[in-house]
Amino acid sequence: MPIQGKHPTFRVVEENPPNGGASIETLVEQPITPVDRFFVRSHAPTPIIDAASYWLTVEGAVKKPLMLTLADLVHFPRVSLTAVLQCAGNRRVEMQEIAPIPDELIWDREAVSSGKWSGYSLAAVLRTAGVDESAADRLHVAFEGLDQIEKQGAFFPYGSSIPLSKALDPLVMLADTLNDAPLTPDHGYPLRLFVPGYIGARSVKWVARIIVQDAPSENYYQARAYKLFPPNIQPEDADWEQGLMLGELSVNSAIATPQDRAIVPPGEVLIKGYAISGGRGVARVDVSTDAGVTWKQAALLGDDLPYAWRLWEYRADLREGDYHIMARAWDTAANTQPEQIIWNFKGYMNNACPRIRLQVKG
Ligand code: MTE
Repeated sequence: MPIQGKHPTFRVVEENPPNGGASIETLVEQPITPVDRFFVRSHAPTPIIDAASYWLTVEGAVKKPLMLTLADLVHFPRVSLTAVLQCAGNRRVEMQEIAPIPDELIWDREAVSSGKWSGYSLAAVLRTAGVDESAADRLHVAFEGLDQIEKQGAFFPYGSSIPLSKALDPLVMLADTLNDAPLTPDHGYPLRLFVPGYIGARSVKWVARIIVQDAPSENYYQARAYKLFPPNIQPEDADWEQGLMLGELSVNSAIATPQDRAIVPPGEVLIKGYAISGGRGVARVDVSTDAGVTWKQAALLGDDLPYAWRLWEYRADLREGDYHIMARAWDTAANTQPEQIIWNFKGYMNNACPRIRLQVKG
């Protein structure tokens, strides 16, 4: 089934499974991404779920396993939060310029969106199931969706996990709305996990099973995919146990406009982009028009919401010539972005300073 209800400027990266995102110019037009521009990242076709016959189980290392319908869930406290969802593969296209990244979707800067999420508190559900909170540093909470992944002829559900310590964070939710409307099928209707501050892969859509266990999920998308390897490791050399299991997002930013290699008239040039911190808050965005020799500060727009992105703009006064524009975001712990891309064979977590070239010509 093709992606449903998206804006005409939505760039379909793959029809089925549905994958795509807004054009970068339209993405930064508003602080909350409208659902019709919100990126979609799915590893299998969208399952169509009848809400009336849907239920969720909570199993594993809990005193009281649960089986919950949507009607049962309404008794749990609700949580709302404005936050970004960012795929670990966002900005892969720049990494691919260094060396090929086979078998992965080549995302530009659009595999991120900012939404207003609301749903049921995961911590409250886990407490009702009698999870052992004193073991929060040892236990993991695994999730499975209702979609069916096919690999080498075998079918299995998409799955992932987070540490119990994160699952008990009061902002982690079983979301049923995005931007005050029920989730659309492609975004996880009727219920999905939303884990603020973590890579999108952990926010399991169409979630149907929650399993408390003493190790991370063995699902392909936790044990194999979404692991970070050093640049000297090629897929054939990878020891999958050794890869860094990705979770928390790093500080990142992108330049949205002007486009790379644009030709613009002399005078004021408006440079716009987004910055994300993964939960600490964006403290500052610097912009350079001379390839990183000197830097000035961009204006941060909108509200300071630590899990959301911060849109920014910088007005540069440019005479005729060639310019190499860079940006770098800082979070409130003074973490910033590396100047150079650190390649990895899966093309994850590109948070290098974004760059564009501009020609200013009268
Ligand atoms: N959940 C299921 N069940 N199946 C998936 O393929 N993709 C994950 C995550 N949850 C996925 C999933 C990835 S990689 C990302 S980035 C986000 O969902 C994307 O969520 P979205 O499509 O709502 O933007």
